[in-house]
Amino acid sequence: MTGFRQVSVLAAGNQVELLEELLFLADAQAVTLVDHGDAPIFEPPLGSHPVWPQTQVQALFHDERPESEILSDLATYFQRANLLIELPSHLTIVPDQDWVRISLDQFQPIHIGKFWVKPSWNEDPIPEGLTTLNLDPGLAFGTGMHPTTQLCLEWLSNHQLSGKTVMDFGCGSGILAVAAGCMGASQVTGLDIDPQALIATSHNASLNQLPVQTLLAEDTPSQPFDVVVANILANPLIELSATLTGLTQPGGHIVMAGLLDEQADQVKAAYPSILFDQDVSKDGWTRLSGRRPE
Ligand SMILES: C[S@@+](CC[C@H](N)C(=O)[O-])C[C@H]1O[C@@H](n2cnc3c(N)ncnc32)[C@H](O)[C@@H]1O
Repeated sequence: MTGFRQVSVLAAGNQVELLEELLFLADAQAVTLVDHGDAPIFEPPLGSHPVWPQTQVQALFHDERPESEILSDLATYFQRANLLIELPSHLTIVPDQDWVRISLDQFQPIHIGKFWVKPSWNEDPIPEGLTTLNLDPGLAFGTGMHPTTQLCLEWLSNHQLSGKTVMDFGCGSGILAVAAGCMGASQVTGLDIDPQALIATSHNASLNQLPVQTLLAEDTPSQPFDVVVANILANPLIELSATLTGLTQPGGHIVMAGLLDEQADQVKAAYPSILFDQDVSKDGWTRLSGRRPE
């Protein structure tokens, strides 16, 4: 049989980089990092290599090599590097599979508000009455799976955006910018501090044949928008309150997510001129929306 032997070990966050290197030295064919607890990495700092506090590290080795040889190589490398990680006594056999297919299959269509968010390669029939939003998962945040993204998509799908100008501040994958375009916005801008996010946004906009202007945060425009949607964390929302209020046209809407329920009052306090609607919460995350008075 051709297949793989899998070793799975538990590592602390600061051990992961070294561990990965040693596994490849021992001739691992692939190394995967899996969250051991339930600690999603929501927004890694730019240029960082994020790992969870407790990470399950899984490595695949060709199964022509005897199990004892792989384990003994790993023990030697770990010892030389002073890496105190317990190795299992046995490796799991993993049959060879179509890995590309399996990884693509992780991304399935998802129904949020009026949207049917799907990867471009998925050809499942589209449920009647829903608007298709093609979205390829990439290196930027925003596949539609996170409750904060869903809260914003629900707001966008419940509002009349025809002919409106929309700013997606912290656009990530561009999912909200594309959603606004699908809802008929006349001009959509996606802005982010991460250049990778702008590449992902342009890609996803073109998948949906929608024009989306992309800007780096340093080029934040001065003209206001009819709708500003910002799914970033509570602290940036507080720090950026003057910018985000200024970007919202008098009479326009501002929609904010990325804050935990217990942070809602603190964020609202930073926006004294906004007339807020009722907060909406999902899985511990709150969405704030409101209007800037005329
Ligand atoms: C949680 S993701 C949201 C992505 C997408 N809009 C969504 O709703 O799924 C937050 C995004 O905001 C960006 N971001 C964080 N701080 C920012 C800032 N100060 N200015 C602009 N973008 C920022 C991050 O790079 C990231 O792409």
